[in-house]
Amino acid sequence: MGPRLREDDAERMTSDPIRLTVNGTNHSIAAAPDTPLLYILRNDLELNGPKFGCGLGECGACTVIVDGVAARSCVLPLSACAGRSVTTLEGLGSRERPDPLQAAFVQHQAAQCGYCLNGMIMTAKALLLRNPHPSEQEIKQALRYNLCRCGTHVEILAAVMTAAGHHVARDHTAGGAADATH
Ligand code: FES
Ligand code: FES
Repeated sequence: MGPRLREDDAERMTSDPIRLTVNGTNHSIAAAPDTPLLYILRNDLELNGPKFGCGLGECGACTVIVDGVAARSCVLPLSACAGRSVTTLEGLGSRERPDPLQAAFVQHQAAQCGYCLNGMIMTAKALLLRNPHPSEQEIKQALRYNLCRCGTHVEILAAVMTAAGHHVARDHTAGGAADATH
């Protein structure tokens, strides 16, 4: 049997639906205002790009872009998204027409398990939106709180460097992104 509703849940559910835009589509969501955006995206809108990792705002796996800024959807209440524009990984590009950043990740084979990749890509995309040509140091700074347990950091950095317009040697094992030149 699932968890029982708290006594005040029914009352909270009757609050007005919350309107927001997700990947360019308008939605009106009837849910408790403190529901994490991640739950709405994955369970209600079936957008499984954002991942549940820690649920505490610490790993970055759930990252989405809200009004152009990277946000951790596991700790972002639905109420904070009212009237805002949310972009998930699905909103960046498709298999047939990937965003250049996604294409760079494919080019550099920047994944092992791939669980962190949503956060890496969405955080990097937010960086590129405000700074299309960040330096290596700026990229590292932007991604410093996104965790990758597989140790794919070299390939991920190379992918973002490529999307930022740097020339990156393809053989990461020989020095990789450290050999990148602008
Ligand atoms: S799942 Fe959101 S930061 Fe870890
Ligand atoms: S590729 Fe597995 S956590 Fe990053």
